[in-house]
Amino acid sequence: MSFEQKLLKTIRALILIGAIFGAICLWVVQWWLTHPKKQPIAFSHKIHVGQRQISCFFCHTGVEHGDIAGVPSVQDCMQCHQVVANEQVVANERPEIQKLTGYWERKQPIEWFKVYKVPKHVHFSHKVHIAFLAKRNPDALKDPGKFICAQCHGDVSQMSTIAAPVGTVMLLTGNANPNTSMGFCVDCHHANGGPMDCTACHR
Ligand code: HEC
Ligand code: HEC
Ligand code: HEC
Ligand code: HEC
Ligand code: HEC
Repeated sequence: MSFEQKLLKTIRALILIGAIFGAICLWVVQWWLTHPKKQPIAFSHKIHVGQRQISCFFCHTGVEHGDIAGVPSVQDCMQCHQVVANEQVVANERPEIQKLTGYWERKQPIEWFKVYKVPKHVHFSHKVHIAFLAKRNPDALKDPGKFICAQCHGDVSQMSTIAAPVGTVMLLTGNANPNTSMGFCVDCHHANGGPMDCTACHR
């Protein structure tokens, strides 16, 4: 083999290794940017809403009449979970409920991370939007999850974990969640007579 041939072979090998390494790096970066983060307890809306039919309003007590929906406290969970599946919990068969009991015994709040979040300079209020969507569809309040919340949060009753619907949007805008992007808000305002001036949302 001549020197040129050897050189060519080495270059080809280096390019191949480079390409494989590059592909692995890209995969790691996209996984890191898009994988759903794990909540401290595997709370499932599918079990609580889809199967057990607990109302959104029961747990998110601020949503109908306040700006912020709010998430139930450990004490709220324990109203049911001091009783629910208690024998199995005692028998060590329900690790996720045992985690919950651990928070309760330590009197420690659960630090859920947020999937839906607008920046500080943006004003958003749930009650205004719930009232608008309830007025538009008289049956909406019978199944708010389906007719109201789903407009912005998707069909939560079928989700075991709530994860942001991530996509290329996030890589371009830095916002993990297209449903809290400015375009999403403004499009609906445009179609339904919501306020369009900057200072309505930016205060
Ligand atoms: C039994 C209590 C309970 C019920 C009922 C419930 N939720 Fe939740 N919800 C939670 C808890 C706890 C969290 C925080 C953990 C998580 O994100 O899964 C949460 C989180 C959420 C979030 C994500 C908030 C964020 O930004 O991270 C949305 C959206 C939501 N709920 C919507 C709904 C809707 C819509 C319904 C009714 C269809 C509903 N929830 C019913 C307890 C409940
Ligand atoms: C209104 C009653 C009620 C409330 C409030 C409630 N749950 Fe539950 N939860 C249930 C029922 C019913 C089940 C199903 C139990 C079963 O599988 O037999 C359940 C199941 C669970 C499970 C077990 C899932 C599994 O597969 O083992 C976890 C974890 C859980 N809930 C966490 C929570 C947390 C955290 C909260 C508070 C944010 C909460 N629950 C609030 C009624 C409730
Ligand atoms: C018009 C769109 C829209 C509708 C409809 C809507 N939400 Fe939201 N939701 C948002 C936005 C935007 C945020 C982030 C707000 C923030 O960062 O202050 C949010 C945040 C939340 C959170 C996070 C927790 C918190 O304390 O802020 C929960 C839980 C939630 N919504 C539940 C609901 C439920 C339940 C319904 C239906 C009854 C509902 N949302 C209807 C847009 C909506
Ligand atoms: C489902 C359609 C829809 C979506 C999505 C939506 N809005 Fe609205 N919004 C409306 C309508 C309609 C009104 C006017 C309601 C009225 O006047 O009764 C409104 C009113 C408002 C107001 C004025 C009332 C107030 O609270 O001061 C603000 C601010 C606002 N929206 C912010 C937002 C932001 C921020 C988002 C995105 C995170 C958003 N909206 C997403 C339909 C929507
Ligand atoms: C219906 C509500 C709404 C209206 C009206 C609105 N915005 Fe926004 N704007 C938002 C939301 C929500 C975000 C945050 C988007 C995100 O997190 O990616 C945002 C983000 C921005 C940002 C980017 C800042 C950042 O955090 O990266 C700028 C700049 C901006 N808006 C300017 C404007 C201007 C100028 C107008 C008037 C022409 C306007 N907006 C009208 C809801 C609104």
